[in-house]
Amino acid sequence: MKILITGASSGIGEELARQYANKDNELILLARREDRLQNLQQELLPHAKSVTIVVADVTKFDALQEKIRTLGHVDMVILNAGISIGHSLKITPFSDFKNIYDVNVLSNHAILEILLPHFLAKKSGKIVFISSLASLISMPTSKVYSSSKRALNAYAEGLRYNYKSEGIKVINILPGFIKSELTDKNSFHMPFLLSTKEGAQRIVKAIEKEKRLYAFPLRFYLIILFLNALPQFLRDKIVFRIKRKAS
Ligand SMILES: NC(=O)c1ccc[n+]([C@@H]2O[C@H](COP(=O)([O-])OP(=O)(O)OC[C@H]3O[C@@H](n4cnc5c(N)ncnc54)[C@H](OP(=O)(O)O)[C@@H]3O)[C@@H](O)[C@H]2O)c1
Repeated sequence: MKILITGASSGIGEELARQYANKDNELILLARREDRLQNLQQELLPHAKSVTIVVADVTKFDALQEKIRTLGHVDMVILNAGISIGHSLKITPFSDFKNIYDVNVLSNHAILEILLPHFLAKKSGKIVFISSLASLISMPTSKVYSSSKRALNAYAEGLRYNYKSEGIKVINILPGFIKSELTDKNSFHMPFLLSTKEGAQRIVKAIEKEKRLYAFPLRFYLIILFLNALPQFLRDKIVFRIKRKAS
């Protein structure tokens, strides 16, 4: 299987690359930090069929699309590159807002605009989005990140309906907290934090099972579903209490 993983230079993407490194798989690893990609390539080359690195900034859309065009058909793309600007109650600078949307939302369509015609021609292909449990509840300290991931959910859902009959599988993954450079910046207690390896293993299993939506850890997911099911005034009380603690 030819697999493109974006954001493969650290965290979940790097660990997913390790999980998929076997003699059946041709890996294509994309990110900006070339040295990290090269180290990972050296580590995985003995195990995988091939490992190609693509050094690209996913927010430089034209250059990104040129690079994706050279790849031809891939069997699966894992759209994992993502950023957060940390947790803050301050007014978000517009440039940060734009950057989050460029990486977390728009870059995915920049890639898929190129890959979808190949998927359609072969009537097969897997598109995996790495969204977040944060997409299901918008906290005052992470409103931009949450909203970007919620936009991603809507896009993933629409794509799935659009292309189901064309043999294209769309899988949306909503992880809770997983250890990575992104979460290392958090100074607060992260409930149900998983190791990078366990997080990636769970994602691989969900992809194998072709789950249309996989939100985990289950207990954290259930708590969020419960909060969302509460009457608005009760949910507000809980969120305002969390906000008071954060400020
Ligand atoms: N960790 C969690 O708890 C958690 C929970 C839910 C969802 N997620 C999602 O999981 C995904 C992976 O995050 P992570 O936790 O593994 O964080 P991470 O270790 O910070 O990894 C982020 C990856 O995205 C790449 N990236 C960021 N900006 C990029 C850009 N402009 N161009 C190309 N690549 C870029 C980074 O590579 P370079 O810096 O080398 O470019 C890096 O490989 C993200 O979408 C995140 O939102 C994470």
